[in-house]
Amino acid sequence: MSLLTEDIRTERLLLRRPTLDDAPRMAEVANDIRIARNMTSLFPHPYDLAAAEAWIPVSDGLAIFTTDAVGDLSPGMVGMVGAHVGEGENADVVTFGYWLAVGAWGHGFATEASRAFLDRLVETVPVRRVEAMVYGWNPASGRVLEKLGFVLEGRLKNRVRRFGELTDELVYGWVSDQS
Ligand SMILES: CC(C)(COP(=O)(O)OP(=O)(O)OC[C@H]1O[C@@H](n2cnc3c(N)ncnc32)[C@H](O)[C@@H]1OP(=O)(O)O)[C@@H](O)C(=O)NCCC(=O)NCCS
Repeated sequence: MSLLTEDIRTERLLLRRPTLDDAPRMAEVANDIRIARNMTSLFPHPYDLAAAEAWIPVSDGLAIFTTDAVGDLSPGMVGMVGAHVGEGENADVVTFGYWLAVGAWGHGFATEASRAFLDRLVETVPVRRVEAMVYGWNPASGRVLEKLGFVLEGRLKNRVRRFGELTDELVYGWVSDQS
């Protein structure tokens, strides 16, 4: 279940809960190996309409929409940002992730969406720590997290085999002043 349910508006983006009406656009923009290879196996490839329709009802995230066209991409859904909270000894620990359509990369959208999402999250639920796991071949995501104030805490050697290729997994963390 989503931690955040209210819409969030930023300068260039709208973040809101996805609905099944968003599934065709989601399948269109998510169907790219350059996205999938940086995501866990919960994110399939190919990414078809059935995958989008299965994910949307169980998604714990907000979909990201541009209000203007970006290159060849018409205004509309360009990705997702999501988080889930731990249990027991990890209560108040949030795991965080995001993805964007390849055509929307390089415009600062991941940083803009994630900053707004995390600001709203810490206002809404108790958060002691936020963490994100990044594959070793994905420096762009590490850079997004650094811009958001996350610190690289560790490198888990050869932890991931994705589409037959091995890579390290990097642990990024942000710890609340109120911890
Ligand atoms: C990672 C991802 C979300 C970044 O989206 P984005 O909107 O392009 O990110 P932003 O524009 O906000 O920031 C990207 C930063 O990475 C930098 N960057 C891009 N490619 C890079 C590379 N190969 N090496 C180092 N830095 C890189 C950019 O220059 C930018 O930093 P800057 O603002 O200091 O110049 C997007 O590439 C994506 O969806 N990838 C596939 C899925 C994914 O990786 N999800 C995250 C899983 S942990």
